[in-house]
Amino acid sequence: MTEILPPLAHDATAVLIHDVGNYIQIAMSAMRLMSRHNGVASSHTLWAMVAQAEDSLDRAGALIRLSRTGLTSGEDVRLDECLAEMGTLLRYVTGPNVRVRLHVGIVPKVRVNRLGLQNVLVNLAINARDAMPDGGVLSISALFADGPEAPEVEVTVTDTGTGMEKDVLARALEPRFSTKPTGSGMGLAGARQFIEEAGGRITISSTLGRGTAVTLRLPTIV
Ligand SMILES: Nc1ncnc2c1ncn2[C@@H]1O[C@H](COP(=O)(O)OP(=O)(O)OP(=O)(O)O)[C@@H](O)[C@H]1O
Ligand SMILES: [Mg+2]
Repeated sequence: MTEILPPLAHDATAVLIHDVGNYIQIAMSAMRLMSRHNGVASSHTLWAMVAQAEDSLDRAGALIRLSRTGLTSGEDVRLDECLAEMGTLLRYVTGPNVRVRLHVGIVPKVRVNRLGLQNVLVNLAINARDAMPDGGVLSISALFADGPEAPEVEVTVTDTGTGMEKDVLARALEPRFSTKPTGSGMGLAGARQFIEEAGGRITISSTLGRGTAVTLRLPTIV
């Protein structure tokens, strides 16, 4: 089995900068999308653009503030609410060619930092978008599942994209590993660090030419 090393302590700053960059990128792509509309100034799309840009900047600010206390300061999170409030954000992340499907069964609450979990999902959605340049489907589901010791909630992010070669899959969670020309390789490493600090696990399965599924297992509140 390939040994996957956790990020070093000093990588925390790199993860933070990386994730703040994601939100700026989302705000910009929202604006680019809206600027294609004629008469944008009088349209409700302008309101949507500004709202999304403000939300992204709020998230960036909250991430910076949380860097002082740590993203692990948990709260009781209802996944249906947590995913529902990300609907618009995820559609901006993935763009017009990717269909986004959210499915949450009846699941107990999890104790995790809400913004931190959403941040992980944004990273996974960006990876899914990058893997589907010609479009496809991004599905996010949450189910109640048996864990090794106690019940867990399983959140799965699935895409119908390129999938990964075996050697890429083996290294995908490694800090600074990237196959993208401008990738920092910190998205999955940061996700892993966050999920493990929250008491959970992250696993990836991928089939070349068919797609990828990233599974997060989170402890439930007892
Ligand atoms: N959904 C996916 N489909 C195909 N390959 C993926 C997927 N997610 C990750 N990968 C592969 O794993 C590598 C590491 O992903 P990670 O998110 O850590 O970094 P990155 O996306 O390359 O860069 P960054 O997230 O820092 O912009 C990617 O470069 C890519 O090769
Ligand atoms: Mg990434």
